[in-house]
Amino acid sequence: MFVFFLGLALRATAQDVDYAQFVNPFIGTEGAIPGYAYGGGDVFVGGAVPFGMVKLGLDTYEEPINQSALNGGYTPHGKVTGISLMHESGTGGGPKYGFPAQMPLTMIEAPVNLLDNLTYWQKRVGDDVASVGYFRTQFESGVAVELSASRHAGLYHYTFPSPSEKHVLVDFSHYLPYPTRSWDSQFYTGAEIEMQPNSTEYTGYTSIANGWCLGAPVTVYVCGEFDNPPDEARAFSGKNTFPVGRHFRTFDNGTTPQPTFTGSSARAGPLSDRVGAIFSWNSTDGSDEVKSRVGISFMSVEKACAYKNTELSSWSIEETAQAARDEWNRDVFSKIRVDTSDAANKTRLALLYSSLYFMHLIPSERVGENPLWESDEPYWDDFYTMWDLFRNQVSLWHLIQPSYYESMIRSLIDMFKHEGYMPDGRSGNYNGLVQGGSNADNVLADAYVKGLRGNINWTEGYAAVKKNAEVLPFFDQNPVDPQGSLKEGRSALNDWIPLGYVSADRSTRAVSKTVEYSLNDFAVSQIAAGEEPGDRDLYLRRSAGWQLSWDPEATSRGFMGFVMPRYANGTFHKTYNITNCGDCNWGDESYEGTAFEYSFVIPHDVGRVIELMGGPQHFEERLDYVFQPNTSGVDLGVNGLGITTINNVANEPDFQTPYLYNYLNKQWKSVQRSRQLANDFYFNTSNGIPGNSDAGALNGWLVWQMIGMYPIVTTPVYLLESPWFDDINITVNHNHTLRIRAEGLDDGEGRQGYYVQGVSINGQPWSKNWFEHEDVGGIMTNGGEMLFQLGTEQVIWETGEVPPSPAHMVLDVGQRRHLDE
Ligand SMILES: *[C@@H]1O[C@H](CO)[C@@H](O)[C@H](O)[C@H]1NC(C)=O
Ligand SMILES: *[C@@H]1O[C@H](CO)[C@@H](O)[C@H](O)[C@H]1NC(C)=O
Ligand SMILES: *[C@@H]1O[C@H](CO)[C@@H](O)[C@H](O)[C@H]1NC(C)=O
Ligand SMILES: *[C@@H]1O[C@H](CO)[C@@H](O)[C@H](O)[C@H]1NC(C)=O
Ligand SMILES: *[C@@H]1O[C@H](CO)[C@@H](O)[C@H](O)[C@H]1NC(C)=O
Ligand SMILES: *[C@@H]1O[C@H](CO)[C@@H](O)[C@H](O)[C@H]1NC(C)=O
Ligand SMILES: *[C@@H]1O[C@H](CO)[C@@H](O)[C@H](O)[C@H]1NC(C)=O
Ligand SMILES: *[C@@H]1O[C@H](CO)[C@@H](O)[C@H](O)[C@H]1NC(C)=O
Ligand SMILES: *[C@@H]1O[C@H](CO)[C@@H](O)[C@H](O)[C@H]1NC(C)=O
Ligand SMILES: *[C@@H]1O[C@H](CO)[C@@H](O)[C@H](O)[C@H]1NC(C)=O
Ligand SMILES: *[C@@H]1O[C@H](CO)[C@@H](O)[C@H](O)[C@H]1NC(C)=O
Ligand SMILES: *[C@@H]1O[C@H](CO)[C@@H](O)[C@H](O)[C@H]1NC(C)=O
Repeated sequence: MFVFFLGLALRATAQDVDYAQFVNPFIGTEGAIPGYAYGGGDVFVGGAVPFGMVKLGLDTYEEPINQSALNGGYTPHGKVTGISLMHESGTGGGPKYGFPAQMPLTMIEAPVNLLDNLTYWQKRVGDDVASVGYFRTQFESGVAVELSASRHAGLYHYTFPSPSEKHVLVDFSHYLPYPTRSWDSQFYTGAEIEMQPNSTEYTGYTSIANGWCLGAPVTVYVCGEFDNPPDEARAFSGKNTFPVGRHFRTFDNGTTPQPTFTGSSARAGPLSDRVGAIFSWNSTDGSDEVKSRVGISFMSVEKACAYKNTELSSWSIEETAQAARDEWNRDVFSKIRVDTSDAANKTRLALLYSSLYFMHLIPSERVGENPLWESDEPYWDDFYTMWDLFRNQVSLWHLIQPSYYESMIRSLIDMFKHEGYMPDGRSGNYNGLVQGGSNADNVLADAYVKGLRGNINWTEGYAAVKKNAEVLPFFDQNPVDPQGSLKEGRSALNDWIPLGYVSADRSTRAVSKTVEYSLNDFAVSQIAAGEEPGDRDLYLRRSAGWQLSWDPEATSRGFMGFVMPRYANGTFHKTYNITNCGDCNWGDESYEGTAFEYSFVIPHDVGRVIELMGGPQHFEERLDYVFQPNTSGVDLGVNGLGITTINNVANEPDFQTPYLYNYLNKQWKSVQRSRQLANDFYFNTSNGIPGNSDAGALNGWLVWQMIGMYPIVTTPVYLLESPWFDDINITVNHNHTLRIRAEGLDDGEGRQGYYVQGVSINGQPWSKNWFEHEDVGGIMTNGGEMLFQLGTEQVIWETGEVPPSPAHMVLDVGQRRHLDE
């Protein structure tokens, strides 16, 4: 009885605080050029619940288009072309989704052409308003738009000016375009719409293909309803003359055609005709308001209607938004609780809770919404991408979202079972693209070594990572990479297995693939240790492959020894530019990072990196150097706008580098560097994130920084850093509390009282600058208390062992052909 009441009381307390009030959904909507999305976070802005399938928001077209980024739909000043239910957040490459859409119009006569968004698109006036679960904007036409969403349905609330015509356009051929590139732009492949007898309800489907991963058509069933019967409702179709698409359509060199009205239904037919409907209400009705609720499903119209009816039982935007906000508070924000009283620093609350918000928008939870195969396993989509997520974001989900996270992993393994490979990226129910290694291996290993079991079948989990390690995927003929598959798996296994490294003459991105495959194989060995112990040593040996690509003679900026492109015949690419990877793209020798940067990215054997760099002192000097301003030799464009150091904190490979001083037992320098980076690049402003948020990966980096730790993914190790709050309660492992306290913290307004003077864990003095998941009575599973003593002195407080290098091994370059013997 007592326990029961206590449980209730605790839950009530956590929910009492409205952490959502601190979230600024606009962080990341702007880049370095004020008013433009280019180089910003590419974030979604609109109504959504955590990991919701529906993310209801604006689709805009911002000019000049070279200063834009349409990936999240939202841009600061772009013209609105539609308001749609599905979006990504924080992604790059060819936009995905932006469908199905509605658009409120105050006129539909010429010059408006319902098939030409340029004739009706809308500028916005005044400032947009967004909070957790709610969005509001005002169009130039005078229409005010409010939005909110549940998990599989969206609620639109339009307030038309008075007097005015009132129309809502439903355009099933609308999607987010990629105006500057056609090969990975989405295109429309067909739709069907049908009005129900009294015309308050419309049903049908829309189908859109391609985009970022060059995916198969995504078919979404739609069930929309208006709160009062329109006076007129007309379906229409029209010839599809969209300029892009490798599909069947009408080719046209003239003006955009006009719609043909087709009564109560319309279908695309074999030439993918465009399909939509226009709903109109008499201006004399008295009411200026039109509301619409729309459910979607990948399975059927019936399911879409059921979602609409059960999830949005109310037409009230306030109630729907409040329900979403409650869910965010309960399931996300209250998992990390800090002081929110008047005395608290509100900027920090904005940074913490906004970061948590952005790292829970994708992937999309689609349990029961898998159109590809029948399975009792859960289903997820929009892993965009593992290359971003594995660095630290998944480790935070592991702690604070154990149920969702277990579900994601089961879904990844189910994809392997039914499609042959786990994804590195996946969107629109289609695997792709692979940027380097098969980084789902790292994700599974991280979960495995930290003891996540539940209903995960690890026999199958191990089979999934072993497949990545052993079986070359078929060549998918992606136009940007003539060498190997970008869809899934490891495209350079035919190099990696016989040579022990990825060669620069037979494979693209040899440097970065070699570095990533090494960690992937370490990850495989970590799971093998428990599931197939006989395999462990093989993969552990393979995890040292990066050493075969280490040219001890390579020199740059006075430093010697780097991972370098190496040819299959064993010679190195001696003239390779170590500080400049060129475009750093699919066809280059290193992907989104120079050899200078990748030489630090060996988390499983930092000890060997230190040795190869010439010992602790040389390592430290090199580490210091990558943080000096104006040292970068490369223009990474949107992946590091405004950053002039070699270390690019905006890009995933470098996330961990500022923390490497822990491996020298100079933790104070990790604290100094990482704090400085956080202070220099993260703000509660619309441009307050250093580039594309990468599905929340950058936000995840900041959360770990603020709670004073950093995970070494694929191992159970966490580095100790310095918390930004003097008291943090984190709900870990469903219902246990990890409390992090900091005594002596004094860091406001330029003061630097954040250096660690000492640490204790569960009352036990702690002499190491790291700990493991299950240390001290299972601190990360059973909870407990970590106490930091902080101050202004930069002291070496740690006297214990440096963090481990669990794959430590010495390979010399000549050993390459004997690796597997
Ligand atoms: C976009 O193009 C305009 C004109 O062509 C140019 O002035 C501007 O610098 C470009 N912006 C970017 C971010 O490349
Ligand atoms: C709007 O119209 C233009 C010109 O036809 C087209 O390129 C674009 O894809 C359309 N859709 C959106 C959502 O911008
Ligand atoms: C309109 O028709 C649908 C489907 O037949 C029905 O569910 C709904 O109740 C009707 N609405 C009104 C306002 O009559
Ligand atoms: C089509 O239009 C383009 C650009 O307006 C023009 O260059 C081309 O000659 C036209 N082709 C035909 C067959 O009319
Ligand atoms: C953390 O939890 C402890 C124990 O329940 C409580 O005393 C403290 O006030 C909490 N701190 C915060 C910031 O929630
Ligand atoms: C974050 O910035 C926004 C925009 O300036 C502001 O409205 C909001 O109050 C700030 N949040 C906090 C918690 O300070
Ligand atoms: C796990 O998967 C393996 C291989 O498919 C199967 O043989 C085994 O029965 C599964 N274990 C459980 C507990 O379902
Ligand atoms: C090794 O291969 C590279 C790339 O094909 C070639 O340029 C080089 O001449 C070769 N060196 C030797 C010693 O065969
Ligand atoms: C870096 O370069 C910029 C532009 O040339 C210059 O303004 C700045 O002073 C330089 N910073 C340092 C620390 O050298
Ligand atoms: C490498 O690229 C940088 C930056 O573009 C350039 O300054 C440097 O001269 C190049 N180094 C070599 C060895 O070509
Ligand atoms: C804690 O959560 C786990 C997993 O959901 C559950 O099995 C257990 O009963 C919970 N314990 C308490 C005390 O609520
Ligand atoms: C509040 O936090 C921000 C961000 O860390 C910091 O810049 C500012 O100095 C702090 N303000 C005070 C009054 O401590």
